[in-house]
Amino acid sequence: MLNFHKDHQNLVNVALLVFVLLSMGVAVIPANELASSNAPLPTMVPLTPSERRGLEVYVSEGCAACHTQQVRNIEMDKVWGDRPSIPSDYHYSKQRLDVWRQSPSLLGSERTGPDLTNIGKRQPGVQWHLLHLYDPRMVVQGSIMPRYTWLFEETATPEADAVVVPVPKDRLRDSSLVVVADQRAQDLVAYLLTLKQADMPGAGEPVFLPSPGRRADTKEDAAGSDLPDGGALYVQTCSACHGAEATGLPGAFPALAGSPVVNDQDPTLMLTIILGGYDARPEFGVMPPQATQLTDTEIAAIATHVRSNFGNDAPATDPDAVKAVRSTVAPETALMP
Ligand code: HEC
Ligand code: HEC
Repeated sequence: MLNFHKDHQNLVNVALLVFVLLSMGVAVIPANELASSNAPLPTMVPLTPSERRGLEVYVSEGCAACHTQQVRNIEMDKVWGDRPSIPSDYHYSKQRLDVWRQSPSLLGSERTGPDLTNIGKRQPGVQWHLLHLYDPRMVVQGSIMPRYTWLFEETATPEADAVVVPVPKDRLRDSSLVVVADQRAQDLVAYLLTLKQADMPGAGEPVFLPSPGRRADTKEDAAGSDLPDGGALYVQTCSACHGAEATGLPGAFPALAGSPVVNDQDPTLMLTIILGGYDARPEFGVMPPQATQLTDTEIAAIATHVRSNFGNDAPATDPDAVKAVRSTVAPETALMP
């Protein structure tokens, strides 16, 4: 029999055994099970070294304090992603930073700013992100996000391969300087652009549980008309760069109010720009292509809205016109409905 009063060695052995069994039961086995159930989805790709460094900048700058990266299974979260998040989504971001430090928690718990789960899809413009990090107020009026100026350098003599941020001259303290994104800013933006929800194979329509008291989203609001609500889509996809009033940002994004391209009777050039992106003039940044983010119907709705608002006056477009232009711009995306 075990006599703990006389045989202290037994006491230690039994305590050790209990400790080991408990650790296996409550920590090691569940952790292994979790790890095996969050295999990456087939379309997910590992982070490149630059994106991985960007993740580290995201962690060290404390972005998770204001931003979540989890789409909850409630209707209210529909705006942040196409489906609720699952453990697999975090497969590549959950790897340890190094032996000594835990894997970073990027999920966040407070939405002072928008959820970033799908930001790579919602906002694919590199220059928009750089401008926004340098000074959020430049692209989002009244934003309360802090500036991250220490990720940039102001210099009068940029190197030939420097990534120059199109900051308008009147926003610089000295107009002979240009703003250059340093490696950390570039890595951070590379990481932000990887934040896209991967498709779930064969999952069918994603399920969001209805949240009480929530108004129907814009598509349902506009159920009566042929086209979805172009104004709401403009706010979601275009206003970040071109501005809520379509006045643009001098030196970075052109105004759509009064633009000859928008007011052209023939919408072809405007649709080509929206579908295929645009980088025609050195005085402006680059417009990313929207062909894979928006359907023909959505683009027709946005174009029609822009052409008949903000003081513009040009005829409406329809999905067939977008379809015709899409086949000339990006054949590989012609399948989008
Ligand atoms: C003090 C809170 C706060 C911190 C810290 C913060 N943000 Fe934000 N962020 C916001 C708010 C508020 C907005 C919404 C207004 C805007 O777009 O500027 C926002 C917007 C954004 C957006 C645009 C989202 C969208 O849907 O358009 C991105 C991208 C972003 N933040 C990235 C970052 C990154 C990267 C960091 C860390 C370097 C960071 N934020 C740190 C508050 C914060
Ligand atoms: C990431 C920023 C960004 C977003 C988002 C964006 N654009 Fe642009 N857009 C630009 C830039 C930059 C240019 C100018 C490019 C150049 O001329 O080199 C431009 C040019 C244009 C032009 C040509 C205007 C002219 O007078 O030459 C049109 C039309 C346009 N965009 C429409 C849209 C619409 C519609 C959307 C939403 C579906 C949109 N853009 C979203 C950055 C953006």
